[in-house]
Amino acid sequence: MIITIVGGGSTFTPGIVKSIALRKDELEVDEIRLFDIDRERQDKLGVLVKWILEEDLKSGIKLTVTYDEKEAYTDADFIFAQMRVGKYAMREMDEKIPLKHGCVGQETCGCGGMAYGMRTIFPMIKVIDDVEKYAKPTYWILNYSNPASIVSEACRKLRPNARIINICDMPIAIIDVVAAALEVNKKDLVYDYYGLNHFGWFTSIEYKGEDVMPKLRDYIMEQEILLPAAYLKDKQALTSSGSSGGNRHTKGSWYYVWKGVYEIMQNFPETLPNTYLNYYLQQKEFVEHSDPTHTRANEVMETREKNLFDGIDRYLATGEIDESVFYAGSHGDWIADLAIALKNDTKARFLVITENRGAIPNMPYDAMVEVPAYIGKKGPEVIAQNEIPLFQQGLMMQQLNSEKLLVEGCIEGSYEKVLQAFTLNKTVPSMKVAKEILDDMIEANKEYWPELK
Ligand code: NAD
Ligand code: G6P
Ligand code: MN
Repeated sequence: MIITIVGGGSTFTPGIVKSIALRKDELEVDEIRLFDIDRERQDKLGVLVKWILEEDLKSGIKLTVTYDEKEAYTDADFIFAQMRVGKYAMREMDEKIPLKHGCVGQETCGCGGMAYGMRTIFPMIKVIDDVEKYAKPTYWILNYSNPASIVSEACRKLRPNARIINICDMPIAIIDVVAAALEVNKKDLVYDYYGLNHFGWFTSIEYKGEDVMPKLRDYIMEQEILLPAAYLKDKQALTSSGSSGGNRHTKGSWYYVWKGVYEIMQNFPETLPNTYLNYYLQQKEFVEHSDPTHTRANEVMETREKNLFDGIDRYLATGEIDESVFYAGSHGDWIADLAIALKNDTKARFLVITENRGAIPNMPYDAMVEVPAYIGKKGPEVIAQNEIPLFQQGLMMQQLNSEKLLVEGCIEGSYEKVLQAFTLNKTVPSMKVAKEILDDMIEANKEYWPELK
């Protein structure tokens, strides 16, 4: 049983490896392979992963670090993809260029997300084609590579038969925070959710059969933020990006999105919004408290990335590892548990990004939606939803069509369609601003984007 991690040089690799190794018996895994196109980055991560597998967990799992597609994928069972095409340098552009024009600057939302999508579509298709060529015919690609919404639409269109499931860790990160706020075990929480990726709503949350949405709503209204009381004691620690410990979703500029959940629920209290909805419902306010010269990309480079690579250098120099240099937690657990459900046909319930096919009756058949599904060896069996309200459906249709136009424009090399995608996006106030951002993005992404005519 072989698991290949694409984007082996990612800051999330140690956490994912740890989650896999801790589930060794259920996964029956013999070998983990790391594959990346950045040798220097992946070689460093390889040192840490070797330590995790051999010294820390004494797992007996073989490690292969490779830069060759054939070696990476031959006979692989699972491929966990987490590439960041253009790395943090390009994330910084995605965030800063829109802000320069007064628009939301975000990794996966609005113009930044669309720019990232245009870089990732074809590399992701290449992964699928290489995997099809070399891996076991029963392979599964579990994809975290962002922007997952746009990537999943491109895969649906270009490689409809690929055995790929696109996933996101934000809903479970929200559930982690909800559990800590309500002081309950997250394993006892059961939830309903629908939306597009980074664009959805929890419609119910139950704790051991009890509806805890009213309690949660009261808690958020009292605290004026969705964060556990224990975290709120030291606001400075929350808003500074200096620390690598604790829950990364509560550090640095993440603070504002938890505050934003409160602001959204003040007006729309029925459902718990995904934190990413802030960028579409509070676009003006989020631009106002962004620093256009220092964005989340900078925070990550100064903390998660720096701490990790400094920690590896220290290990190489002294032989000592400080585990707080790497992030481990729900992110790795989620993808590893999904692989267990697929492999062992458990029919466990997961949120996945999947073709709608009628699950949400008043959304198009071919929309890539994020909904709960039972996961077995044949893939997701999606759970049917009720019709969704007009407000949410309207928002989702606007976002869906923006993303569909972006994917079509990217595949066809059509400047006009990509401009329509930018213009249609709710984070952009006018066609003129859309064009200005797009033209700056074309310049910044010369090395990565297909040519637009
Ligand atoms: P990172 O830059 O630390 O790691 C990404 C790695 O991908 C780099 O080592 C880079 O060299 C490699 N890479 C780039 N292009 C590649 C290609 N064509 N083939 C193989 N490898 C390639 O980034 P990170 O912050 O650790 O995030 C990794 C990815 O996971 C990003 O796409 C991020 O958006 C995504 N992510 C998604 C979720 C989710 O909810 N879906 C959650 C967390 C992270
Ligand atoms: C959440 C989202 C991911 C996103 C990540 C960014 O986990 O679900 O899709 O990539 O946040 O986190 P970061 O710490 O890199 O800003
Ligand atoms: Mn996500």
